[in-house]
Amino acid sequence: MTEEDLDRIARGYREFAGEARPTSPLYARLAEHVAGSRPVLRFLAGLPTGKRQPNLLLAALQLLDGAPADGVELERRITEDGDRVRETVLARATQTNEPARCGALLPVLAQLDGPLTLVEVGTSAGLCLYPDRYGYDYDGVQVGPPGALRIRVETSGPVPVPDAVPEVAARIGIDLNPLDPTDPGDRAWLRALVWPGPVADERLRRLDAAAEVAAREPATLLRGDLVERLPDALDLAAPGSTVVVMHTALLPYVPGDVRARFVETVTGLPVRWLAQEPPGAVPGTGERPLDGWGEEFVVSLDGRPLARSAPHGGRLDWLDGGLGASRG
Ligand SMILES: C[S@@+](CC[C@H](N)C(=O)[O-])C[C@H]1O[C@@H](n2cnc3c(N)ncnc32)[C@H](O)[C@@H]1O
Repeated sequence: MTEEDLDRIARGYREFAGEARPTSPLYARLAEHVAGSRPVLRFLAGLPTGKRQPNLLLAALQLLDGAPADGVELERRITEDGDRVRETVLARATQTNEPARCGALLPVLAQLDGPLTLVEVGTSAGLCLYPDRYGYDYDGVQVGPPGALRIRVETSGPVPVPDAVPEVAARIGIDLNPLDPTDPGDRAWLRALVWPGPVADERLRRLDAAAEVAAREPATLLRGDLVERLPDALDLAAPGSTVVVMHTALLPYVPGDVRARFVETVTGLPVRWLAQEPPGAVPGTGERPLDGWGEEFVVSLDGRPLARSAPHGGRLDWLDGGLGASRG
C-alpha cells in the first residue's frame, strides 16, 4: 500500500463529506476525520477495493455499536475493534432501500395501461415494488390507501398527479444479494444504512412500515445479475399485463460494460423501461456529475427524461414536454 493509495481513499472520503453535509452533518464530520487519519486510511486500504466506501464503513459501525459520536470515537473503534468492523464490511454491501422513491415513480406508472407487472432490477429488499400499497401526499393532494406510510412529495411543473394508484398484478425483483424484509438481520442492516441526521427518524419509520407491507405480501425476489436474470423475471409476468422494467439508484453500482449490455437488452424488449437514476446514467438523460451522484436524479421512461427528482424521491420537478408523447 502506497501513500498514493491512502491519498486516493482520503479524497473519496472528502467528496463523500461534501455530499453528506446537507443531510447528515455527523457523517460529514466523520468522513472528514477519516480523510485525515492515517490509521483509519491504512485499515481501509487493507480491504478489497469495492469495500472501502464511506457508506459501507459508516453503516457497519452503526450496525455494530451505533454511529460514532465523533472522529476520535471512530478512530478508537477501528484501532481497537477493527476485526469486527472488517467482518461486517466484508459480509455486507451498500443496499440502501428507500421506498419514498415510489413517490417519483407513481405519476409515471399510473399513466401506463394496467394491470402492471413490475420487474425491479437492483431491488435490495424489494421495498420499491409496492407503489400501489403506499399512501402519498403531493403538495397536499392525497393519493393511495390510508395507512402508516405516507410519502410526501413537493412538486413543480405539470406533474400528472394520479387520482388513484395503478393495479399491480405481479412484483418481481432481481438483486445480486436480495435482502429479506422479514429477516431481523437484514432489517437491522437496512436501518444501519440510513444516515443519521434530521430526516433519519422519518426514514426509519418509513422503512419499518414498508418492510411490514412487503412481509404481508412477499414479492418474488430473484438472486443474480440484472442482465442474466431478466429472462427469468419476464417469464413470471402476469398474463395480459404491461411489463415495466424499473430501477432506482442502481446504475452507478453497475460496471460500465454490464450497464451497456443492460441498456441494449432492455431497449430490445417489449417492455416499458422506467428509471430514477443520476443524470447520464441512462443514456440521453443529461451530463454525469463530476463528483459522486449529484443532488438530483432524473426520472425517465423508455430512455426519455420526464422529470428531475430528489435522490430519495421527496421532490419532483416535471420537465416541459410531459408524459403524453411517451405513452404507448
Ligand atoms: C443502492 S441499492 C438501491 C435499491 C433500491 N433500488 C432503492 O432505490 O431503494 C442498489 C442495489 O443494486 C444491487 N445491484 C448492484 N449491482 C447489481 C447487478 N449487477 N445486478 C443486480 N443487482 C445489482 C445491489 O445489490 C443493491 O441491492
